[in-house]
Amino acid sequence: MEKNILVTGGAGYIGSHACLELINSNYNPIVIDNFSNSHREIFKRIEKITNKKIIFIEGDLEDTKLLIKIISKYSCSAVMHFAGSKSVGESEENPIFYYKNNVGGFISLLNAMQSVDLKKFIFSSSATVYGKPNSLPITENHALNPENVYGKTKLSIENILKDVYKCDKNWRICILRYFNPVGAHESGEIGEDPKGIPNNLMPYISQVAVGKRDKLYIYGNDYETIDGTGVRDYIHVIDLAKGHIKALQKLNNLGLSEINLGTGKGYSVLQVLNSFSNVSGKNIPYEIKGRRKGDIDCNYANPSKAKDLLNWEAKLNLNKMCKDTWRWQKNNPKGYS
Ligand code: WQD
Repeated sequence: MEKNILVTGGAGYIGSHACLELINSNYNPIVIDNFSNSHREIFKRIEKITNKKIIFIEGDLEDTKLLIKIISKYSCSAVMHFAGSKSVGESEENPIFYYKNNVGGFISLLNAMQSVDLKKFIFSSSATVYGKPNSLPITENHALNPENVYGKTKLSIENILKDVYKCDKNWRICILRYFNPVGAHESGEIGEDPKGIPNNLMPYISQVAVGKRDKLYIYGNDYETIDGTGVRDYIHVIDLAKGHIKALQKLNNLGLSEINLGTGKGYSVLQVLNSFSNVSGKNIPYEIKGRRKGDIDCNYANPSKAKDLLNWEAKLNLNKMCKDTWRWQKNNPKGYS
């Protein structure tokens, strides 16, 4: 069925918001997820928002036979691939697991797709593949030089996709490079729920605001930026999800494309903290610490290719990102558990 889209990792933070936008655009997400970093509860929340039951199958991408069965049973017309591990720090400590899980799982997925002649693929990549910027804003033809294992797994997958396309031009592949996804659906029903201590800035700030953490540790205030703290291109997860729908709708005309999904604007840690404090009415105590290994001063996208190829641009501002994050965190102080 044309409208059935296989969504790997559809119970995750980005994947669940993509499922929501698929439903809003009259597609049917068919989810496979192993729930290693997500919760079944998410599907109840999505049903509450959309009044639509999502078909989901618990399973691992390395189970190629299961993938073939799902794609065939539901006649999936394309794949949105979100499943994968995404902690930079963890990837450095456990490279073998990261290559096996991220690249191994992906190869199993491609094998399954090839055996049922399904050749439409949207890949959740990351600006991490660019490594340290040698020019800003970052365009898609910036050097690809990831500095951590997580980013290297993403680039490995991108390179495999390029070889597949070179060998068989019938594939339709869109590689979407995310900058810093944050925020939550405005219902407050779904949002980011990291396991353990959050690695990323926004969920850490929201856990301080809700009283789960005492204070934010700011990793370095001696960067060459507006106030010395790190600058990033934060993009609302709903804008990001809508970018995937546009990619799906344009996929047939794109061959193989690599596209940045960012706002083109950078904000510092202190600017994010102050915006969050304003929308939540909460004081966010913080302590300046040394720089975090592998962090860069500044990173933001040139988003013009997404505008040209997908007729997509980010619309939601930092205030809305903080507001929607806070609503989710306030309504779900313990996340989904
Ligand atoms: C943002 C800024 C930190 C936490 C990472 C991955 C990337 C992508 C997004 C998956 C930096 C500062 C953070 C904290 C802080 N993930 N910070 N205190 O590092 O830009 O990107 O997440 O695709 O691949 O690399 O995001 O949110 O961790 O950091 O001061 O407790 O906030 O130094 O300047 P990052 P981040």
